[in-house]
Amino acid sequence: MAKQSTLDAIVSLAKRRGFVFQSSEIYGGLNGCWDYGPLGIELLRNIKESWWKSMTYRDDIVGLDSSILMHPRTWEASGHMDSFSDPMIDNKQSKGRFRADTLIEEYIERLHKKGKEVQAASVQDRLDTAVAPEDYYSIIVDEGIPDPVSGSKEWTPVRYFNLMFKTFVGPVEDESAAVYLRPETAQGTFVNFKNALESSRQKVPFGVAQIGKSFRNEINTKYFLFRTREFEQMEMEFFTKPGEDVEWYEYWREQRWNWFLSHGMKEESLRLKEHPADKLAHYAKGAVDIEYLFPFGWGELEGIHNRTDFDLKRHQEFSSKKLEYVDTVTRERYVPYVIETAVGASRSFMAFLCDAYDVEEISEGEKTEERTVLHFSPSLAPIKAGVFPLVKKDGMPEAAKEIHQRLQKHYKTQYDESGAIGRRYRRQDEVGTPFCITVDGDTLTDSTVTIRHRDSMEQERISADRIEDFLRSHID
Ligand code: GAP
Repeated sequence: MAKQSTLDAIVSLAKRRGFVFQSSEIYGGLNGCWDYGPLGIELLRNIKESWWKSMTYRDDIVGLDSSILMHPRTWEASGHMDSFSDPMIDNKQSKGRFRADTLIEEYIERLHKKGKEVQAASVQDRLDTAVAPEDYYSIIVDEGIPDPVSGSKEWTPVRYFNLMFKTFVGPVEDESAAVYLRPETAQGTFVNFKNALESSRQKVPFGVAQIGKSFRNEINTKYFLFRTREFEQMEMEFFTKPGEDVEWYEYWREQRWNWFLSHGMKEESLRLKEHPADKLAHYAKGAVDIEYLFPFGWGELEGIHNRTDFDLKRHQEFSSKKLEYVDTVTRERYVPYVIETAVGASRSFMAFLCDAYDVEEISEGEKTEERTVLHFSPSLAPIKAGVFPLVKKDGMPEAAKEIHQRLQKHYKTQYDESGAIGRRYRRQDEVGTPFCITVDGDTLTDSTVTIRHRDSMEQERISADRIEDFLRSHID
């Protein structure tokens, strides 16, 4: 299946089966915002729960949930007021507004498609070194890049546009009341460094993990959940002694890579992309992205950064509060370095969904048919088991409901008695349910059930009182 149509098929499945809906759809939708439906919320919660456990069910990391609105000085200290912006350009004729870098990237893609590799490489070089608005403007004008809709080449100068959403606290909408919706959870962690350290009696090295909503007024919100204006992040800031930072940076790269693999993500769909030394943010000592091969191409999934002591020092400077650590044994005093792992919960959701999606040809005797299946790892699957009576009579529905109710105390399971058994399997395959439990005539006499495995489609027979053990060993 072609790449774009794969994404379309996934988006359509996500809507049809209740994973993701467009926000405020009945009013025509709101760009860059999405709602998680009955199955989507289960998948999202499973992703967040797994991340939370892997991060905080250990002695050296504590959790935090900081507020979305923060003191405006936070964003001056973090640098977001000055530099969290995209270069924008307006077309004079169409009045369309575009991200200048995206216009250029799309132009480079077109050059590649036309086989103009030398020209593509030279424009790419210019784009890689572009910083000032004029740098982007001169590429667009020199190359004669047109407005993608109207074809017009009449452009305004490039200006930077801040991505933070602004609002006001209290009834008066003046600058003194201006606050911003946080564009990342990390700053809520930095400003709480001392609180987390002292209240939990941690010692460096230690980390603070946080899951929460972040907001960015993104100009281009394409590709479904990939780049949205409201999204959830799972960020962990690990505070280390300077000099031990590089070791921890290596450690966290490996941990985070393995986390994706441990949830069944295909290794060939993942790659590490190092930020070259000359492209690092001014405060960073090392940075790597874990990228995923989405249907539209490679895209960042997670960033692991050695942020040095930049953030704590900046907050120290702007708040005039000491953010040092004092080693109780050696009496050394220092501002810790930070290794950050930052991943989108919603972007991970999209990656897990894309990775799980498959349309397979299956044959039964002479017959060949297609089945759509989501190969989620059992721990992430929204529904852990479907429970069916083979037929709607002879006490089978009652026995199946009894099993379903028993399992629901621990797992999300779904009872289904409608339609042929094959169709019920397909319905569960399509939403990634790893197991289907069927009550049949034998169940009523020997208390056994069949368990059908989603991926192999094989069936086994087990005693009904072993179902919980079976699920526990396959899911947990
Ligand atoms: N504190 C560092 C930080 O926020 P980032 O690379 O801007 O770094 C981290 O964001 C992760 O958050 C990204 O790798 C991505 O998974 C997710 N993310 C960022 N912007 C997003 C957006 N507009 N929509 C969805 N996810 C986003």
